[in-house]
Amino acid sequence: MPSMHAALKGTPLTSVFEKRMGSFPRRARELIQNRRASTAVTASSTREDLLSQILQTKEKHPELVDERVMHGYATTPLLAGADTVTIGLTSIVYFVGRHRAVANKLRTELDNCGLEMPPRWSAVYKLPYLDAVIRESFRCHPIGAMLSRRGVPEGRVLTLPDGRVLPTGTAVAVSGWATHFDKGVYGADALEFRPERWLKGEGEDEDDYDERLRRMNKADLTWGHGDRACMGKNIARCEMYKLMATLYSTFDVSLYRDHCCSMVGPLTMLTGTTRASRSRVEDPRDCSRQAGGCRGHALVTPRQEYREVGTSELMDEDATDD
Ligand code: HEM
Repeated sequence: MPSMHAALKGTPLTSVFEKRMGSFPRRARELIQNRRASTAVTASSTREDLLSQILQTKEKHPELVDERVMHGYATTPLLAGADTVTIGLTSIVYFVGRHRAVANKLRTELDNCGLEMPPRWSAVYKLPYLDAVIRESFRCHPIGAMLSRRGVPEGRVLTLPDGRVLPTGTAVAVSGWATHFDKGVYGADALEFRPERWLKGEGEDEDDYDERLRRMNKADLTWGHGDRACMGKNIARCEMYKLMATLYSTFDVSLYRDHCCSMVGPLTMLTGTTRASRSRVEDPRDCSRQAGGCRGHALVTPRQEYREVGTSELMDEDATDD
């Protein structure tokens, strides 16, 4: 909404957000400096991760990537990939915690697929029920639902179904909160959390299922669509599928109180989730005393022996595009 943007620009409200945003470039600078320092100490770095690739890109293509551009590359994943993944994981735990039958089914799938720990991407991304649970959680709680804004291109107008005409340059966003609950696409029970909708129904014809899935995929704005779709989708999926498979294989997870996780819609990204998820609360009962109230606590009890693993064990060469 251009008028709202103009009205808010330069106000104390926006300066609060700008101040918070400033911490991301600062953190990126720190990470770069630390990595350079540790690489200098060991003479060469054997660590292969996103940051090492960003540093290597600057070495390989100095004509394209200078210090400023490289700094931008390092800031983007922090900005785009921290709250999004945190909110995604929180919503999965929330929905599974609220639906015992789903939790049981998920556990049965994980118990019977012979996962090694930590699991590899190649083993988890094809688990049908885990995939359905994650997709359904994102449908019911779209994370970047208003990020997909586009401009009406030069020399064109956009005519809305109700006949209104938007001129060139108008910023347009489609809300995931509208498309994800569209009963015409997701069925009469679109408001319910039901992972099974992503799977082929019993007795459902193969072609009907393909068509239903095609329509659901089209309306699914979790990652956006087209040229500006999420660049970190594969990293995010890899993180989340592996983490959720590990969590539910290893622990019994229940919500501390049924109403403990509050869903605050699109504003979650701007408000308390990050603060709550980053703050360390030893006793979940303390969470109600945090500023902004509790944004969700789950109690975890081990179901099997587990061990802590280091970062190197979590590296996963299998994790390529599917
Ligand atoms: C659950 C996790 C995530 C969700 C739901 C998510 C969702 C989105 C959405 C909806 C967009 C806008 C797409 C559009 O305009 O059509 C976007 C853009 C973007 N995302 Fe993500 N994202 C996630 C994680 C990440 C991660 C981990 C990274 C990086 C490591 C990342 C990097 C980006 C970048 C760079 C863009 C801008 C792409 C462009 O404008 O060309 N995202 N994301």
